[in-house]
Amino acid sequence: MAQLWGGRFKGATDDLVYAFNASIEFDKRLYRQDIAGSRAHVTMLGKQGILSTADVDSILKGLDGILSDIESGKLEITHEYEDVHSFVEAVLTERIGDAGKRLHTGRSRNDQVALDMKLYVRDQVDEMIPELKGLMKVILGIMEANVSTYMPGFTHLQKAQPVTLAHHMGAYFEMFKRDVGRLRDARVRLNECPLGSGALAGTTYPLDREYTAGLLGFDCPTANSMDSVSDRDYLIELLADLSLIMVHLSRLSEEIIIWNTNEYRFVEIDDAYSTGSSIMPQKKNPDIAELVRGKTGRVYGALMSMLTTMKGIPLAYNKDMQEDKEMTFDAIDNTKGCIQLFTGMIDTMTFNKDVMAKSATKGFTNATDAADYLVGKGVPFRDAHGIIGQLVLICIERGISMDDLPLEDYRKVCPAFDDDIYEAISLETCVKKRLTKGAPGHEAMLDEIKICEEYLG
Ligand code: ARG
Repeated sequence: MAQLWGGRFKGATDDLVYAFNASIEFDKRLYRQDIAGSRAHVTMLGKQGILSTADVDSILKGLDGILSDIESGKLEITHEYEDVHSFVEAVLTERIGDAGKRLHTGRSRNDQVALDMKLYVRDQVDEMIPELKGLMKVILGIMEANVSTYMPGFTHLQKAQPVTLAHHMGAYFEMFKRDVGRLRDARVRLNECPLGSGALAGTTYPLDREYTAGLLGFDCPTANSMDSVSDRDYLIELLADLSLIMVHLSRLSEEIIIWNTNEYRFVEIDDAYSTGSSIMPQKKNPDIAELVRGKTGRVYGALMSMLTTMKGIPLAYNKDMQEDKEMTFDAIDNTKGCIQLFTGMIDTMTFNKDVMAKSATKGFTNATDAADYLVGKGVPFRDAHGIIGQLVLICIERGISMDDLPLEDYRKVCPAFDDDIYEAISLETCVKKRLTKGAPGHEAMLDEIKICEEYLG
């Protein structure tokens, strides 16, 4: 047991209490951020004349040594320390003597941990944005290659109107684009430095908070010291953003699972991203998509858990807030892992274009276009809707599609039909004529793709 306090205690901490209270097992991953924060703090203390240049130099050298020894594996972060902050300070003091004991001047673990978590989240956001963009690049590649790959568009999971694969994937491009935007927004809001807030009420030392904020790449110091040490809004925002990324990954996972079934066969997941069955030799299962869909729940769980943890905490720091770490780390690790695996899975997936196009010709996806054809011949839309409904029923009874219904049958129901009806309801025409902005028609789709290309740069 090694802890930073104890002077006012007569007895030793109970072993179970010590273990229950300690956070080193999970906050050890903050060592880089903790050392970076200490470097900035000490540099500022030197500039302000609070610490001597000799002490500052010795502390900085000591911290650099600790960092490189952890990175090289020479120094292990062990569990006899309460948390990562205690570990760094204890090793520093062991290595450089009394100067190490001056590191914590004008600082509390409360502003220290608030800083470490902000730095960690900022680093993670900076890694996650390019990872999301990598996924979007793969999606864009599929869009570019499939402007003329027809497939049924669905509502209620019933065939509705024909679209293209480019159009369908373009919907996901937009979702992930919003996710990137949300991460950027969160980063802007979190980029204020809590260091220098002390335990809750600032300190009596003449700290230069602007200076440390600048050294650590923050836009400014936080405004209120009580808020600074007890604000975890940015974690809740991050977890909400991660939850939405998972919503999007999970929806596409669900579609891929459906498309990969024997009944659909729209896609074939690569062997590298599939798994087999221990009993059924024929099986090739979409486990990766299923796991991504499954892991969505635990990321939502982290969000709910964090919201609940924070809801009743009086100002300022309370130990409840230590609970922010494990679930945030888990949500970040899992979301990043899912983005990475998902990118590989869809990059190697093959689309059975013929099967998709054939499916689009079935299920009367051209019924709206047939009604629009009659409107073009002067029939009011509501009447046209009824007429096409009757024709669909005839086709269902005969087991054929509208493309195969003879002209005389069309004419029996409505004399306005001519033999140009077949051209008007062909799959190509149905898609080609949808040219409103954001629609699947060729020119509209190319415009959309151009915007996506410009976005990714
Ligand atoms: N391990 C603690 C946490 O994660 C660090 C802050 C401890 N502060 C305190 N006053 N006990 O929240």
